[in-house]
Amino acid sequence: MLPINEEAAGPADGQKCGEKEARDEKFKRERRASRKSKIENIVRPFILSDDDYKEIMQRMRQKFDDGLGKETNPTASVKMFTTYVRGVPNGSENGEFLALDLGGTNFRVLLISLDGQEVKMESKIFLIPQQIMLGSGVQLFDHIAECIFKFMKEHNIIHKNIPLGFTFSFPCKQLGLNKAILAHWTKGFKCEGVEGEDIVRLLHEAIERRGDIKVECLAVINDTVGALMSCAHSDRKCAVGLILGTGTNACYIERIDNVELWDGDDDEPREVMINTEWGAFGDDGALDFIKTDYDKKVDKTSINAGKQTYEKMISGMYMGEIVRLLLEKLRKGGHLFGGKGSEELSTRGRFYTKYVSEIERDMRDRLTGDVDEHFKNTKQVFDELNLEKYTDEDCRITQYVCSLISTRAAYLAAAGIGCILNKMQRPDVTVAVDGSLYRFHPHFHDLMVEKLNQLVEPGIKFKLMLSHDGSGKGAAIVTAVAHRLRQSKSNSQLDELADAMQKQELEGH
Ligand code: GLC
Repeated sequence: MLPINEEAAGPADGQKCGEKEARDEKFKRERRASRKSKIENIVRPFILSDDDYKEIMQRMRQKFDDGLGKETNPTASVKMFTTYVRGVPNGSENGEFLALDLGGTNFRVLLISLDGQEVKMESKIFLIPQQIMLGSGVQLFDHIAECIFKFMKEHNIIHKNIPLGFTFSFPCKQLGLNKAILAHWTKGFKCEGVEGEDIVRLLHEAIERRGDIKVECLAVINDTVGALMSCAHSDRKCAVGLILGTGTNACYIERIDNVELWDGDDDEPREVMINTEWGAFGDDGALDFIKTDYDKKVDKTSINAGKQTYEKMISGMYMGEIVRLLLEKLRKGGHLFGGKGSEELSTRGRFYTKYVSEIERDMRDRLTGDVDEHFKNTKQVFDELNLEKYTDEDCRITQYVCSLISTRAAYLAAAGIGCILNKMQRPDVTVAVDGSLYRFHPHFHDLMVEKLNQLVEPGIKFKLMLSHDGSGKGAAIVTAVAHRLRQSKSNSQLDELADAMQKQELEGH
């Protein structure tokens, strides 16, 4: 319910006032009630029922099965990519590694030293300018190689030959641990000449073009796999990795019997990590029944229209924009800011997702809707947006809009995780979660747990655990294993190493 302060509308019953005042108050109250119901009508499409979420789970389950099926995979919207990671670490990995993390809020180069449970990490964030994100693949990989060079120089390791793991957070068909073909770009990237290509080859070529560093990429992983690996390093029950950041995606440990496209060996453990790429769920129309006009607009104005439907309803790259569109609708209808907006508020992408978190932090208690009556953060956001006149009521309505959009996102993500947990049928699972949205939103975790409790089959226990620096640590762990095995089997193909990883180093569940 919209938490508009009805009490503030007029004197309490029984209070004495003149007839005219009473009439005015009645009029004001009616106007408020009608405004409230108009606002509720506008936002209603964002409020989904339990049945809707159950329906979404069922549809997602179908799409997962399509992605895993040999015949259905080519046309499946959710690709369920097989990774070459077949087990979780046993905690004994060690050595010094470089890692690259591309595809989240920032591009990072990391130097990680693993010594059993002890992990030391140094990292540096580098900017990827917009013109490179939308430029050519050669430009992108030259830029990455230059960042590696600068990082190595700063750390005095330019002369060393350090193995590198690449957390590349885009949909890739893996043909080996260090051979990953980019299916298509997602999020803000669209570099020409990379789709359909092996990104390790492109990276190595860029490194060769420079000729001043010796770096070999031994493993490519998705960030979801990194989160899972990093968490599994200390928690043996971890079997799902979830990212809620710029984009959203999940991976999980699947039984090989369920993976019809599996072309590896039949050895134990008969399990493999599946990168679901669930962000594409709905691209075939499966989510049309919940799509609002605002979702459609966000999609239409994105650089990948028609793609990543589920991701666009959930993740950080799009959440602020959905809120902005809704606020603009309310403003234009005269329900917000006295109808007067600002250039910032009418600019696409200008209402950042971090504002949603900040505004919701003003809500002291999510369940009772108890708010900080000073609306400190909310007003600060309004100031940043150059909104001139706003009332406490505007603050309340804006908070309400933010909480609706983030609640839908959290419940949708919970439906996805619920679907995976019900499919896995393990009695007790830790879900490793990472990403800026999950980290910084004040209630996302609680909202997800609340919904998951309703959606997960009785008897299945789960825990959502923040995974620390999976994109760095996870890549280092996988690279560590690949490297040691490569040294002991210098002629081996990395594909074989991936198999060996599971036999020699890693324990299955
Ligand atoms: C996008 C990418 C996916 C990644 C996710 C989270 O959905 O396609 O590979 O895991 O974002 O970063």
